[in-house]
Amino acid sequence: MVLPIVKLPAQVLRRPVTDVSFPLHKDVRRLIRDMLETVIKADGIGLAAPQVGQSLNLALIYLETSGIPVFPIINPKIVETSKQRVAIEEGCLSLPGLFGEVTRPKKIVIEYQDMHGKVQRLDDNGWIARVCQHEVDHLIGTLIIDKLDSVTQGQELLKIYSDRKG
Ligand code: CO
Repeated sequence: MVLPIVKLPAQVLRRPVTDVSFPLHKDVRRLIRDMLETVIKADGIGLAAPQVGQSLNLALIYLETSGIPVFPIINPKIVETSKQRVAIEEGCLSLPGLFGEVTRPKKIVIEYQDMHGKVQRLDDNGWIARVCQHEVDHLIGTLIIDKLDSVTQGQELLKIYSDRKG
């Protein structure tokens, strides 16, 4: 089932998430399947649970157009980041129409659990690194509007998306 994507200023995008426990509850399995349908329908490359209204510590990385099979990152933690940082244009399904440059470490090491609860460790300096950082930000309530260096598209949307905290 395709789920509605939550947009700012919805507070669920700012709320802390709860770790996912194993074995995965059937509702969580269903959520992951629904998130996959949702990210495909939305033409996205990643989707975090808070973006579909669930305060759970999980996201999907959907880079199939780059030849990378889809995978969930459950209870992820970025354990290493490179000193080298790069600015790349990003958008976000929760901030439609807004695009801008975000500077992030080029390379990361991320640890997360897979669907079976097994801890996976991934080392990347390309798209996976970039998308994982964006999604892990969602899981700590951080959005690209908090770290944009410059807006490349949708300047007028900044006001509309400006956060109303509390
Ligand atoms: Co996003």
